[in-house]
Amino acid sequence: MPTTTTSILRRLLLLPVQFLAITTLLTTPPPPGADALDAGYYAATCPDAASLVRGAMERLHHNDPTLAPALIRLLFHDCFVRGCDASVLVSPAPGRASERAAVPNHTLRGFNAVDAVKRALEAACPGAVSCADALALMARDAVALLGGDDYAVALGRRDGTQSNPWEVDLPAPFSRLDDALAYFAARGFDAEETVVLFGAHTVGGAHCGSFRYRLTDPNGTMDDALRCDLLETCGAADQTLDTDPANFFDPDTPFAVDNSYYAQLVSNRTLLQVDQEAAAHPATAAHVAYYAATPGAFVRRFSEVMAKLSNVGVLEGDAGQVRKVCSRYNT
Ligand code: HEM
Repeated sequence: MPTTTTSILRRLLLLPVQFLAITTLLTTPPPPGADALDAGYYAATCPDAASLVRGAMERLHHNDPTLAPALIRLLFHDCFVRGCDASVLVSPAPGRASERAAVPNHTLRGFNAVDAVKRALEAACPGAVSCADALALMARDAVALLGGDDYAVALGRRDGTQSNPWEVDLPAPFSRLDDALAYFAARGFDAEETVVLFGAHTVGGAHCGSFRYRLTDPNGTMDDALRCDLLETCGAADQTLDTDPANFFDPDTPFAVDNSYYAQLVSNRTLLQVDQEAAAHPATAAHVAYYAATPGAFVRRFSEVMAKLSNVGVLEGDAGQVRKVCSRYNT
């Protein structure tokens, strides 16, 4: 493995757990609740908000290319639990847990980057830009910096005032695809859109803990050569998260939004069981085959569906608050 890849993987692995314009038009209507979002929302209060975020993201990405995938994941984990209200960003405090304490969120990263960007926004325009908008912009910039299509993000989200670990019901890597499809459908995403969002697993990586059972107790759904390689990297024994090795989903282009994830699905070479099921499931197999064969179509669709994801269940108007620090509610 080349030294750069090794060092990037090591960075991915060593990150602490707690710290851990060409505009694509949205072709699908925004879900209910996103009606008042507006691209010009900060025209009077923080006109440079989007360019400030983009500049900061460019610097962060230059220093650590593993951050952009982490931010795309952070947006997903935020928006599918209580909507895109930055509830996932709140740190647990004594006597008050938060979403970050829930198991699916233990491997989230990028919180420090969001806090840093928010500090810069506060310095430029105190009290104006919400953490939910900052995260939506950062995830959009992450997609663009990873070679995806740029897309428009309407603004005006407000930050939530609740963040509860027991509300985190995100699917697990071993979930049945039927259950995952029902979960995405309940949030307004059909099977094709779900397959497109799964395509986020063309960037970044996963710790062995989320798929080790597929190596030690094979059920024939993983290519045997890949299984043997991963067994060597991961070992057969469970490990704590801070020592568990991480692997790129797409080892050839781990920092490129491209369609190679679907080629991996077609050849049984993906890490997560729920993803692999999409290659054969009657509701998703044709979409997987189409995106495997049509690179440009995936890149375009991915940005469209990410734009839709950014609008799920947003708080608007006087709801919630604009947090001063993303990891804490305002006092
Ligand atoms: C059934 C749905 C999904 C499941 C079960 C799932 C599960 C996972 C797991 C287990 C990891 C590895 C975490 C780690 O070990 O560090 C991961 C990583 C990731 N997920 Fe998902 N995921 C799902 C859907 C999504 C969606 C919809 C997106 C975004 C639109 C997404 C984006 C990502 C990204 C970018 C990473 C890499 C993060 C990094 O490198 O830090 N995932 N996912």
